[in-house]
Amino acid sequence: MPHIVQVSSVQKHIKTKNKIIKAVDSVSFACEKGKIFGLLGPNGAGKTTLLRMLATLLKPTSGQILVNGIDIAQQPIEAKKTLSYMSEETKLYEKLTVKELLSFIGSLYGLKNAVLQDRIDFYLNEFEITEFQNMAISRLSSGMKQKLNLIRCILHEPEVVILDEPTSNLDVVASQLIFEMLKQLKQRNKCIIISSHNMLQAQKLCDTFFIINKGRVVQQGDLKEITSKTDSADLEEAFLKTVRE
Ligand SMILES: Nc1ncnc2c1ncn2[C@@H]1O[C@H](COP(=O)(O)OP(=O)(O)OP(=O)(O)O)[C@@H](O)[C@H]1O
Ligand SMILES: [Mg+2]
Repeated sequence: MPHIVQVSSVQKHIKTKNKIIKAVDSVSFACEKGKIFGLLGPNGAGKTTLLRMLATLLKPTSGQILVNGIDIAQQPIEAKKTLSYMSEETKLYEKLTVKELLSFIGSLYGLKNAVLQDRIDFYLNEFEITEFQNMAISRLSSGMKQKLNLIRCILHEPEVVILDEPTSNLDVVASQLIFEMLKQLKQRNKCIIISSHNMLQAQKLCDTFFIINKGRVVQQGDLKEITSKTDSADLEEAFLKTVRE
């Protein structure tokens, strides 16, 4: 089966006043459906830059990204129909209720009334927030807000879901709720790409890991491969050994 995401020799060089920063310095990898991919790297490694390029929000300096066979630089609007991006700090319209927000976002995606209502009800039920549907967003806990944020991102049924540190501000319980959602998406054969600084959580959640350092993928594989290549007991040890080299 062809890979749903193919990243080939992608670079992002950012010109500042007196130098060029190689935020992403030639990255290649591929992802398939029905799996969760963990993008791991220290601060400033290039994770957000890479994810923003995948989401069509940033143009690579060079290289190519294919999503579902579509060159996202050539056909960004087509590509956007099959992917979704949740940034680190998304703000929701606090005054709306949960259902109002989802209806609004769904209409932006062009979903029509009956289909939209069915889909909203499905996700509210699937992710167990039906009882909050008429509550103002301002009154939701951080965990609930993030759940809603994720539903907002997948209303149009994207094949590829990209999340930049989706649990960085959440407690263990709320993080777990988000992970359960991601596992359900995986079961529905979506391709999920997530960045994280939490090695323990990533180890439990992800099938394949890309360790990125200074704009380059320096290690990749499943847990067994990564730990054996680095002679490590767990993902955290493998990560530390890899990025300290
Ligand atoms: N617009 C910009 N202007 C200048 N430098 C930038 C810009 N965007 C990113 N960078 C630099 O590119 C590098 C990669 O940044 P990026 O935000 O992608 O890292 P990250 O892996 O997401 O880090 P973190 O874990 O802290 O979120 C950093 O050195 C950063 O300072
Ligand atoms: Mg980042």
